[in-house]
Amino acid sequence: MTVLVFLDPAHDDGTVADASRPQLMATDLGATRGDGIFESMLAVGGTPRKEQAHLDRLAASAAALDLTVPGAGAWSRAIRTGLREFAAAEPDRTHAVVKLIATRGVEGAGSATAWVQVSPVPASTLAQRATGLRVLFLERGYDSTVAQRAPWLLMGAKTLSYAVNMAAVRYARAHGADDVIFTSSDGKVLEGPTSTVLLAYDRDGRKTLLTPQLESGILAGTSQSALFAAAKEQGWELGYGPLEPHHLLEADAVWLISSIRLLAPVLSLDGQDLRTSTALTAELAELVDRFV
Ligand SMILES: Cc1ncc(COP(=O)(O)O)c(C=O)c1O
Repeated sequence: MTVLVFLDPAHDDGTVADASRPQLMATDLGATRGDGIFESMLAVGGTPRKEQAHLDRLAASAAALDLTVPGAGAWSRAIRTGLREFAAAEPDRTHAVVKLIATRGVEGAGSATAWVQVSPVPASTLAQRATGLRVLFLERGYDSTVAQRAPWLLMGAKTLSYAVNMAAVRYARAHGADDVIFTSSDGKVLEGPTSTVLLAYDRDGRKTLLTPQLESGILAGTSQSALFAAAKEQGWELGYGPLEPHHLLEADAVWLISSIRLLAPVLSLDGQDLRTSTALTAELAELVDRFV
């Protein structure tokens, strides 16, 4: 079942709402213009993971959109209310997806609509973690320097306007693949529609973990960031793009990483089989387990 908790200045812990009933005004700018922001985080055993990183990124997205949203304390209290309700309704589920959503609000009202949604982790998401992904490179249509020139494109913000990202995944599925890695018009590797790209080289025991650079207009992944911190402690070398498709084809392993699916190995790119490494995947999955 899905639990909804609306953030409400009159109720400190938020107001629980029935997810099987309409709860949003049809004139909410989140619905009519996709004007809003969100976060998706994993909760395990009733505790949200990387909560502060998600709250920080929500605040950064809000700033990029010039959107006034409730403060971190109000979000945290609503998250706890949601997780408590979820645990009562679904006592056997250890894992949950916690979404934080804020829109520009009802037309003319001038204040944000904000709510927390707690729901089960879809089985298909868990399956991809285990089996790996066939991925297509798809063009995003921007060059890798556009974020600096055109802040109104909101490139590094996690906005509700994900229709293009979802269309890219549907395109991949219609063409025999599972997921997508976007490339820029100047040929750089960017990110997945809902994930960060990672690749590793293991040369004579010297292990390097690489990810595209943030300046290329990608979302700052909280999972990539936490994994890099853990890998650094284990002696891995770290690197940040610019990356091109050939770097992925030459790597010892490539993954897509995100908060719910976690670390998913990429098996092929545009139909070309990639090198995979059970040992490197197991080593990094162990580091991911530490922050999950
Ligand atoms: C576009 C995009 N890039 C990267 C990520 C990965 O971010 P995180 O690790 O914080 O989940 C996401 C997550 O949904 C995303 O939507």
